[in-house]
Amino acid sequence: MASAVTAGDARPTYRRIARFYDFLDGSFERKRYALIRGTLFAGLSGRILDAGVGTGRNIPYYPADAEVIGVDLSQAMLAQARARRDALGSDAPLAAMDVLRTGFADSSFDAVVASFVFCVLRPNQQQAALEELGRIVRPGGEIRLLDYTWSKQLGRRLVMRMWAPWVRWAYGAGFDREPHRHVEPAGLVLAEDRFLIDDVVRYVVARRP
Ligand SMILES: C[S@@+](CC[C@H](N)C(=O)[O-])C[C@H]1O[C@@H](n2cnc3c(N)ncnc32)[C@H](O)[C@@H]1O
Repeated sequence: MASAVTAGDARPTYRRIARFYDFLDGSFERKRYALIRGTLFAGLSGRILDAGVGTGRNIPYYPADAEVIGVDLSQAMLAQARARRDALGSDAPLAAMDVLRTGFADSSFDAVVASFVFCVLRPNQQQAALEELGRIVRPGGEIRLLDYTWSKQLGRRLVMRMWAPWVRWAYGAGFDREPHRHVEPAGLVLAEDRFLIDDVVRYVVARRP
């Protein structure tokens, strides 16, 4: 049975975990994510949205000549992101916003990145989120996603099965979201789809036609 949290609002989950998020995620960040976050921003410039900015783990990778705006549903996560931004001497604006209804004007970004956010959105929110991000990125602009997906290798899949209840409780996340399947139904072009870590962390680039 779906709990109130899995019913779609990530705020209670992230209010609970925000203060511990960086600690809990620390070894994964060092050994895995730090190696691939740069890919998200490679070659991007202009106005960029970091959708679901979390504690601001992407901030060190923002291109120096770009204007990057970070948004997140959770005020608790934004508080952590503000502390990181200030410590890094960045002036990136951060704001509370739902990626399903951002309020930004059509075509107002050159690119959008969302790392480990679609695995938190419910399955029935995937297409709507891509449609909203597709609306606010300019024609030809890219939406770049990093997300977990179930491994097809038996041993790795078993390890993921052991982790899954914790990942669901702690982060409200699942390995079954597969946002790449929703790119074309959302009216976007699947420009890139490949794994960056084993066959579990998937990098998807959707382009607005
Ligand atoms: C697993 S964290 C990833 C944070 C960050 N992008 C990173 O790479 O470390 C997922 C983030 O997505 C945010 N989030 C979940 N649903 C959202 C929504 N509908 N709109 C905006 N942010 C959302 C959560 O509050 C959380 O900060």
